[in-house]
Amino acid sequence: MKELDWANLSFGYMKTDYNVRCNYRDGKWGEIEVSSDEYLNLHMAATCLHYGQEAFEGMKAYRCPDGKVRVFRMDENAARLQSTCRGIMMPEVSTELFEEMVKKVVRLNQEYIPTYESGATLYIRPLLIGTSAQVGVHPASEYCFLIFVTPVGPYFKGGFASNPYVIVRDYDRAAPLGTGTYKVGGNYAASLKANAIAHEKGYASEFYLDSKEKKYVDECGAANFFGIKNNTYVTPKSTSILPSITNKSLMQIAEDLGLKVERRPVPEEELDTFEEAGACGTAAVISPISYLDDLDTGKRYNFGEKPGPWSKKLYDTLRGIQYGTIEDKHGWTTVVIE
Ligand code: PLP
Ligand code: COI
Repeated sequence: MKELDWANLSFGYMKTDYNVRCNYRDGKWGEIEVSSDEYLNLHMAATCLHYGQEAFEGMKAYRCPDGKVRVFRMDENAARLQSTCRGIMMPEVSTELFEEMVKKVVRLNQEYIPTYESGATLYIRPLLIGTSAQVGVHPASEYCFLIFVTPVGPYFKGGFASNPYVIVRDYDRAAPLGTGTYKVGGNYAASLKANAIAHEKGYASEFYLDSKEKKYVDECGAANFFGIKNNTYVTPKSTSILPSITNKSLMQIAEDLGLKVERRPVPEEELDTFEEAGACGTAAVISPISYLDDLDTGKRYNFGEKPGPWSKKLYDTLRGIQYGTIEDKHGWTTVVIE
């Protein structure tokens, strides 16, 4: 294993030894190629550059205390990428090809998988781009699917700690019937300004209400929202949020732990009734929310300076399953290195 200061890693890019690639030409996917080049040789008129024909995924590999390396629910990431492909007219990557490439890139870069104790993980970034030249607005005929990995520390400084968020009304991440349910780069471009403003004002992240009426809760930047009250896990249902695999897993874990689960529109006023609230996602894991400010109304929703008991229980159970220390009764993890 590389001798790196794993415990002090930030959530950023670090060069590793290999990435894996597969090209789509003449209506079919080719062979998997292994590359050590960090760069792409891309046509200047490629559709990914001009018309945003680009999709990505995010997942992690965990070095576990039993010595094995596991990845979490990669079939779900494959299925979400397939949904994104249908959404922006790209050829689907089969679950089989996706999983084979994930396993390969993790095994090839195993020296870079952080130690268990460090709390850092190996972030896996699948990327699918339209590569053929097109000036009219049409889908490409050729694509490149690649996966790179990079060791990462916590998404928010301080790891499992509560952070403040701020509601933004002047910016939408995605339109009500737009691409919000797909993991496409354009949604993140649309979020950059709101995110920068939130950071400037001292918040961990921006918080979105629904873009049509600004009445319902959507997402917490690049993570889903959940609230806890009266022994119930509540999470928004909306046409413009990314279906988070972490959130889907937490809904099941919540049920397993004896909570009721509700996925439904969450009006902003209801925020006042939650005992605990958090952001959840692959990068964020669970990031409890300390308070949420609505600067337009002057309202502050308080959820506690420290993570609440249910957030902690959900976090510990999710991490335990991912690291193989709690029974994986739903069959969510895959051992990629024995
Ligand atoms: N919402 C957005 C906008 C995201 O970028 C992410 C990150 O992937 C999530 C939610 C969380 O999804 P997941 O739990 O599948 O990582
Ligand atoms: C993730 O949680 O995997 C994300 O995609 C969040 C962000 C790094 C884009």
